[in-house]
Amino acid sequence: MEKPRLEKYPATAESPAKINRLMIGDKHVGVSYVQYFSRPFPHYYLGYVGTATDEREKGYGRMLMDEFESKLLATGRAGVLNDMLAYHNGVGSPLLGMYERRGWQRIPHTSVLTFNLPPGVGAEDLRKLVAVRKQQFARTSKSNQSNRAGPK
Ligand SMILES: CC(C)(COP(=O)(O)OP(=O)(O)OC[C@H]1O[C@@H](n2cnc3c(N)ncnc32)[C@H](O)[C@@H]1OP(=O)(O)O)[C@@H](O)C(=O)NCCC(=O)NCCS
Repeated sequence: MEKPRLEKYPATAESPAKINRLMIGDKHVGVSYVQYFSRPFPHYYLGYVGTATDEREKGYGRMLMDEFESKLLATGRAGVLNDMLAYHNGVGSPLLGMYERRGWQRIPHTSVLTFNLPPGVGAEDLRKLVAVRKQQFARTSKSNQSNRAGPK
């Protein structure tokens, strides 16, 4: 079995998120979109992580998260993500808890999770931040998808 490899696409003016594509041969098995923001505090925002529907539960999601977290640890910067799908699928969702098991902290009663958060950033600051990021990613995801398509 061929080993997965990570293809990294830097941010561009058209697609401001950096894209990591996990490939096995010419098959696209996973993708993550990550963008750096210096305000209101320096952080990397995980706009999306996903694996191909026929390639789930094989550790590829973990590989993409490992890659993201190694950047956070190397830079000492915070990570923020909005785990909409698991959160809205509710208490029984098998994916709920995936990020906490990896050391992410959930902002209570929200789908927002953080890693390496600097002191002094409150829950309300994060709610506002994620509301803005959601809109930004909704605007850019169309160009991300058409330029460098994710797995189906
Ligand atoms: C979330 C997602 C990326 C996980 O990808 P994956 O390749 O299946 O993940 P992995 O095989 O690496 O597993 C990661 C962890 O999730 C757990 N997991 C994944 N799918 C699971 C399932 N259906 N049931 C139970 N646990 C599951 C694994 O046990 C593993 O946990 P561990 O690291 O504590 O052992 C994938 O399900 C997906 O693309 N979902 C749709 C998009 C999405 O919801 N993205 C996240 C929000 S943007």
